[in-house]
Amino acid sequence: MKHIKIALIPGDGIGPEVIAEGVKVLKAIEKMDSDISFSFTTFPYGCEYYLENGRMMDEDGIEKLKEFDAIYLGAVGYPGVPDHISLRDLLLRIRKEFDQYVNLRPISLLNPSLTPLKSRTEEDIDMLVIRENSEGEYAGAGDWLFPGKPEEVVLQTGVFSRKGTERIIRYAYEEARKSNRSLTSISKGNALNYSMVFWDSVFEEVGKEYPDVKTFSYLVDAASLYFVSNPERFEVVVTSNLFGDIVTDIGAAITGGLGFATGANINPEKAFPSMFEPVHGSAPDIAGKGIANPIAVIWSVSQMLDFFGESNWGKAVLTTIKDLLREKDYHTKEIGGSASTRQVGNRFVEKLIKSMSP
Ligand SMILES: NC(=O)c1ccc[n+]([C@@H]2O[C@H](COP(=O)([O-])OP(=O)(O)OC[C@H]3O[C@@H](n4cnc5c(N)ncnc54)[C@H](O)[C@@H]3O)[C@@H](O)[C@H]2O)c1
Repeated sequence: MKHIKIALIPGDGIGPEVIAEGVKVLKAIEKMDSDISFSFTTFPYGCEYYLENGRMMDEDGIEKLKEFDAIYLGAVGYPGVPDHISLRDLLLRIRKEFDQYVNLRPISLLNPSLTPLKSRTEEDIDMLVIRENSEGEYAGAGDWLFPGKPEEVVLQTGVFSRKGTERIIRYAYEEARKSNRSLTSISKGNALNYSMVFWDSVFEEVGKEYPDVKTFSYLVDAASLYFVSNPERFEVVVTSNLFGDIVTDIGAAITGGLGFATGANINPEKAFPSMFEPVHGSAPDIAGKGIANPIAVIWSVSQMLDFFGESNWGKAVLTTIKDLLREKDYHTKEIGGSASTRQVGNRFVEKLIKSMSP
């Protein structure tokens, strides 16, 4: 029996609404498979917690979370708490402290009706973006000198260590080799003359160990254009923290929006818990209405199961998502439907159970 200890951080806004549906899916799987079990412990961390306690999580929050195999997070951030606090003190802190240096963001079109791109099919848009998740432009290094004075200067330093750059690029080569797909590096060596020249040289250097992997290298501006004009160019993509954040939002835009974008923050060595979460934020504009799309958070369940070696379940969840999307009655509002978050979650579970019964 495999037991997975999950820390739930539903967070703010639509976070708790969508996480509830993801948990429903995990509980349904546990019922169907006597070889897997999950336990859930909920942590109230988020902006409400901050307003009450002056911090985003317990003082020993990291120690507490360390006990778990996985963290399943909804979203954090809400008006009233500056975004740089909610993001840095919870989300980025967890990613950093648990050395979740790989951010896996699949960009796959799950149903042709979801893309705004003319005549594009599931075959055209099917890539995996591997984003560096522990340093780079989000390292939090810099300075703010002479604040408020005419000579004010702000420095934001990108940190690209050899260890950090090499391990993410190597991970991407391994993934490309394993899945027999090409690997594209996205960088910006023409303008960022230290960090991205270094990135490009490491990409080339590590590539010598993978002569069987076909590679491409694009500047981030050109890559952004190709994401829209020629998404079929991309199979496995590796890029830095900032560029990965931005290009995967373009990826979301061409595959149905943020309700369909998921991401796994992985510590491949399993020395610390990995974190699974939708890419979207807390969506204050629709929070509390029960209309948020839970597909991204359900897709996170698929990523979680893949990570723990349950790829049959991972695949079953993804296939059921695709099946469900064929039913227009279960489309949420932002894609033109009228189904509620709960209706989508319930229908998903119903279909998953049906697809797995003999
Ligand atoms: N991972 C995270 O926790 C995360 C990520 C991004 C933003 N944030 C935070 O969330 C807050 C809101 O940020 P934002 O408005 O820029 O981004 P957002 O992702 O919350 O919302 C952007 C737009 O997408 C829509 N949307 C998002 N998720 C949806 C879903 N599941 N179903 C239907 N529509 C959905 C929203 O209604 C909104 O119109 C901010 O505080 C921000 O810092 C958190």
